[in-house]
Formats: sequence, structure tokens, C-alpha cells
Amino acid sequence: MKLRSIEMVLPEADKAHQFLTDIWGAASAGSKENTHYIRGSGTFPYLVALEEGDSSFVRSVTFVCSAQELDELKQRISQRGLMACPTESKDLGGGEGILVQLSEGQILRFLINTHEVEPLAGAELPVKLTHVVFNSEDAEKTGDLVEAALNFRVSDRTKGMVFVRCNESHHSTAFARAGFCSLNHIAFEMADIDAVMRGVGRLRDHNMVPAWGPGRHGPGANVFAYFIAPFNAVVEFSTAVNKVPEDYPVGAPEDWTWPPNRIDQWGMSDKDFDGLRKAEEHFKFHRDWQPAPLV
Ligand SMILES: [Fe+2]
Repeated sequence: MKLRSIEMVLPEADKAHQFLTDIWGAASAGSKENTHYIRGSGTFPYLVALEEGDSSFVRSVTFVCSAQELDELKQRISQRGLMACPTESKDLGGGEGILVQLSEGQILRFLINTHEVEPLAGAELPVKLTHVVFNSEDAEKTGDLVEAALNFRVSDRTKGMVFVRCNESHHSTAFARAGFCSLNHIAFEMADIDAVMRGVGRLRDHNMVPAWGPGRHGPGANVFAYFIAPFNAVVEFSTAVNKVPEDYPVGAPEDWTWPPNRIDQWGMSDKDFDGLRKAEEHFKFHRDWQPAPLV
């Protein structure tokens, strides 16, 4: 199971596409009908789909998996009565699978038989998405739900988040204890710390400063630098997230505390709490499909 992409709808999608390619550093994967796609250096055909629309919302966050994993997901999701439907992807890379809406509203898509593409050279390009984090009304309940319904595993719990993995990477998603359901942020995996730092420099060239970072997180130990994109999503340069074994001991909030005035391992940057919070409320999830039996 791998996190692949996020599908977003927003006004002025062309401008978001331009920001993500010209300034953020991703490559264009072209446009199809009213949707612009961006990709990284890895083999996924795209990482972010930007569809032109009157309002901003997230259509889905997409994972790719095996046929066996999809069959198991269908059983688990059906048993728990979640809203879901079979789907055929019209996005780059094709494939078919299911859409599922968690009880709070987050929408995930699981695909099989997707196409991949040749990798691109370029040390400045993001490689792929490393995680997409959701805001959550009840992160504990939703963490339990994705363990039961999606066979994901909680890696760590902190005061702010429930970190969840779907493979050996410490987290591919997390649920922030926000009190509401929306997109929290999208994290792009960079090749190394230099690529993160050069990304920060590139944004500084365009008069953008990090909303938080650079720094190194506690859980997952990944390096980060967060920015508020002009299209009101929080985006992150990240690298070097820990890989964890199957029997990784689940950390509790008391295992992840900071000394006074520290909220990361380095303690070298401020955090724009208000700006981040505002942007984190911007993209809600919108379901424009009707539930249908999976099995
Ligand atoms: Fe992150």
C-alpha cells in the first residue's frame, strides 16, 4: 500500500499549477480537460490534481495497492458500513478501485491496475508525497476506525496528532486533533536535507518565508519546512522520515514532550499558528458520489 496523490478542486487551478511548478519545484504532468497535474521525480504519473471549480475542496486522497489488499479493504469497509462505492479513475494513470468516506468526512480512494511513468532526473524535484495529514473532529476515534476498516496502523500519538502508517514508513497520514474535519497539509518527499533547504531558499527568492521550520519532527524524525501556498493549502518540504518495523511500539503523548520553547528537535524557527490554522480550515472534503455496494 502506498500513498500516491491528492485530488483537489479550486478556483484558478492554473495559478496553483503555476505556483507548484515554477516556484515550489514540482514538474508539470500536463493538463486534461479542466484538471492540471503536477508530478515529482518518482514513477507516479502525478502527485496533485488541480481541477478548476467554483469552490475549494478535496475530492480524494489516493492510495495504490494490490488486488488482494483491495479485496480485503472491500470486506472491512462493507462490514463497518462506511459510505463507499466502486470507482474507475479518470485521472492520469487510470486504474480502478473504491472510494470511501470516513465517518467524519475524509475521502480516500484505493486503486489497483494504475500505470506508472519513467522517473525524471532533477535533485530539486520532489520525489513523491510522503504524507497527507487530515484535520479531525475526533482523532482517536478516526485512528481506531482506519486501523479496523483500512488495516492501517497507528504509529504514535502526540498531544496534537495520531500518526498512521500503511507500510514501513512511520506515517503516510495523520489525524490532527483539530475539532473539525479538513485537509491539514500535503507533504512532499525531497531527496535529502539539501533539497529541503534549497526549496526554502527558492521560496525566499519569491518573498515567501516558512510558516514553520525548517526543523526536525519528533515522531517519524523527518525534516520539515511548511509554507502556506497562495491557493490556501499548507504544503511541506520533508525528507528522511523513519522506517519502522511491524512491531514498532506505539508512542503515547507523554512519550513525545518538548522542553520549554521547543516544538521540534532543532528549535531554530518560529511557527505561524494563526496563519497555519486559517489555511488548514480552507480545504474541506466534498463527496459528489453516491454510496454503492462494494461486494
Ligand atoms: Fe507533515
